[in-house]
Amino acid sequence: MGNKLTLGEASFSIRDKQLHNVLTCNQMQLVKKSWNLLNGDLDTLGGIVFRRFFEIEPQLKIVFPKIVHINHDNKLDANIDMDMLLRHGAVVMKALGAAVESLGDSSCLNSVIITIGQIHCYRNVKPKMIKKLWPCLNYGLHAVLKENYTKEIAQAWRCLYYYMCGLMIHGMLNPDTD
Ligand code: HEM
Repeated sequence: MGNKLTLGEASFSIRDKQLHNVLTCNQMQLVKKSWNLLNGDLDTLGGIVFRRFFEIEPQLKIVFPKIVHINHDNKLDANIDMDMLLRHGAVVMKALGAAVESLGDSSCLNSVIITIGQIHCYRNVKPKMIKKLWPCLNYGLHAVLKENYTKEIAQAWRCLYYYMCGLMIHGMLNPDTD
C-alpha cells in the first residue's frame, strides 16, 4: 500500500522516506495548485479548520490551555479565546504551507515535520490525536476552495496529510533525537 507510512520504524529509515513514493507527480501538482489558490488567506482556512476541530472533537480542547481556559473548579471554560484560536490556526496552516513549498525535497520536509512532532510531544498532544485533524482540514479546504476542491485534489491532500502524520508521530515518539 504505497500511501501508508509504517510507524515505529528506525529513525534512519523514516528520515529517508521520499514523498514521491507516496504521492504521484500529478498529486504533488494538484496540492501545489490548490494551495496557491488559498495561500493568501491562511487565517480563514485555519479558523474554519480549528472551529470544526473543537466542534467534532470537543474532548481535545483540553490540550489547548492557552485557547480554552480551565476555570477554578478545574473544568473547561466554555469560552474559547478566538484570537488565540485564529492565531494557532494560522500557525498550523503556515506549517502546512512550508510542507507544500518543500514537496520536492523530502529530506528537508521530513526534518521540519519531525521537529514539529517533537514540539507537540511537549504540548501533551498524543499521537492518536494527530490524524483527527484530517476530517477538519478536508472540511476547511472544501469550504474555501468550493468547486475547485475535486475528489482527486482531496485524495492528494489526504495522502500528503497522512505522510505528515507518520513523520509527526515519529517525532512525538522520539522527542529527544536530532
Ligand atoms: C499537520 C498537523 C499539524 C501541524 C502542521 C501543526 C503545527 C503546529 C505548529 C507549527 C505549532 C507551533 C509550535 C511552536 O510552539 O513553535 C503548533 C502548536 C500546537 N499544536 Fe499543532 N499542528 C498540527 C496538528 C495538531 C493537532 C491535531 C493538535 C491537537 C490535537 C495540535 C496541537 C497543538 C498545540 C496544543 C500547540 C501549542 C499551542 C500553543 O501553545 O499555543 N496540533 N502546531
